[in-house]
Amino acid sequence: MSSFIIEGGTKLNGEVRISGSKNASLPIIAASILNGGETTLYNVPNIHDTQITLKILKKLGCKIKKNKEKIEINSTYITQKEISEDLMREMRSTVILAGALIGRFKEATFSYPGGCDIGARPIDLHLKAFKKLGINIEEEYGFIRCSCDKIIGTNIDLDFPSVGATENIILASVLAEGKTTITNAAREPEIVDLVKMLKKMGAKISGEGTNIIEINGVKKLEDVKYRIMPDRIEAGTFLCAGAITGGNIKIINAIPEHLVPIISKLEEANCKIKIENNIIIIDAPQRLKAIEIKTMPYPGFPTDLQSIFGTVLSVAKGTSIITENIFENRFRYLAELKRMGAKIKQENNVAIISGVKRLSGTAVQSTDLRGGAAMVLAGLEAKGITKVSNIEYILRGYEDIDKKLNKLGANIYIKEGE
Ligand code: EPZ
Repeated sequence: MSSFIIEGGTKLNGEVRISGSKNASLPIIAASILNGGETTLYNVPNIHDTQITLKILKKLGCKIKKNKEKIEINSTYITQKEISEDLMREMRSTVILAGALIGRFKEATFSYPGGCDIGARPIDLHLKAFKKLGINIEEEYGFIRCSCDKIIGTNIDLDFPSVGATENIILASVLAEGKTTITNAAREPEIVDLVKMLKKMGAKISGEGTNIIEINGVKKLEDVKYRIMPDRIEAGTFLCAGAITGGNIKIINAIPEHLVPIISKLEEANCKIKIENNIIIIDAPQRLKAIEIKTMPYPGFPTDLQSIFGTVLSVAKGTSIITENIFENRFRYLAELKRMGAKIKQENNVAIISGVKRLSGTAVQSTDLRGGAAMVLAGLEAKGITKVSNIEYILRGYEDIDKKLNKLGANIYIKEGE
């Protein structure tokens, strides 16, 4: 495992280009299974999670050509319909491939994705929806076998607007017979990006971005070229890096409307934010004001920025309150932050943060992808040196985060194998 070594105290300044969205890339790469032909993707971030998803597609029989500019996937000769347990364990969101395999081949076998660092991550809503689509599901020895003769469109009401379940239903029903209507669908921008790509392949879908999505099954999907949208969580992470260091950062290719809750919360905390076309400029004060945050499904405040924003508030003036409503175990970073001098009390899914003047550098762990990113921001602010270990978590979701931060004036480098 490797670590980041960070010397804190520099106000970040300059501009940063955001990479393609991790959480749009994963379902879009899965969707390349559906056309049994060529899919060319641009702006896919070169991170662990996309590498693993491509590795699985290759194991299934896809031909993949990759260079800096694009990824070409040919899914004509898929022979395998089983996703191996070790790969499922490496990345739980590979469950998204099941929906695409079932959508095209009417069968898929995969193991229970298992929980991860932020919660149990059940897939009951996915399986319930598959059953409603007429898919037989056998669960045996930790494996889930899905099969059916044909997929019949139907009405599916989600108990919770699950992002993954919404995506899996869309992937499983684009080639179905008849119409599928999802009510209480998730509204995340990543789902809109997936649907835009599927519509370019010839899918008949409407309502994406709202809580009612309609999919009219088609017989075939065509070859496609598609450019992935910028990563709103990475963009929010860099806005927060500017906020915690009292800096001035220009985000040059994010999509401002994807960031409304973060921008409004940063303004509430006394940051000045200017938006000119697709450029977002944050000018942070010396010290932020304490605020309240509640994570919600989109368009509410994203759970993926909860730990990152919590870190920003750990040095704000006053007492902040964060309520995590999406995942049951997304406060693990608080223990690490307290090692750096943060004053935080946790009561169930609520964190009460009494802002301190300054954090102090020490050795801390990345508890998960976003918890690790939060530790990086803490190190950028802290007095002295911070060593953030287990950075493989962070590299799963952030492309070249150290290079991008160094370009903004941060002092951060990777120490291999520590
Ligand atoms: C996606 O996860 C994202 N991952 C997550 O980002 C993100 O935090 C999450 O959506 C919420 O926005 C990808 O897109 C790859 P959910 P997903 O299904 O689809 C419960 C990151 O840091 N639930 O919307 O797994 C679940 O336990 C990652 O980039 C069920 O109960 O999220 C959770 O409490 C982390 N049963 C809530 O719903 C189910 O069948 C939201 O989960 C499915 C979900």
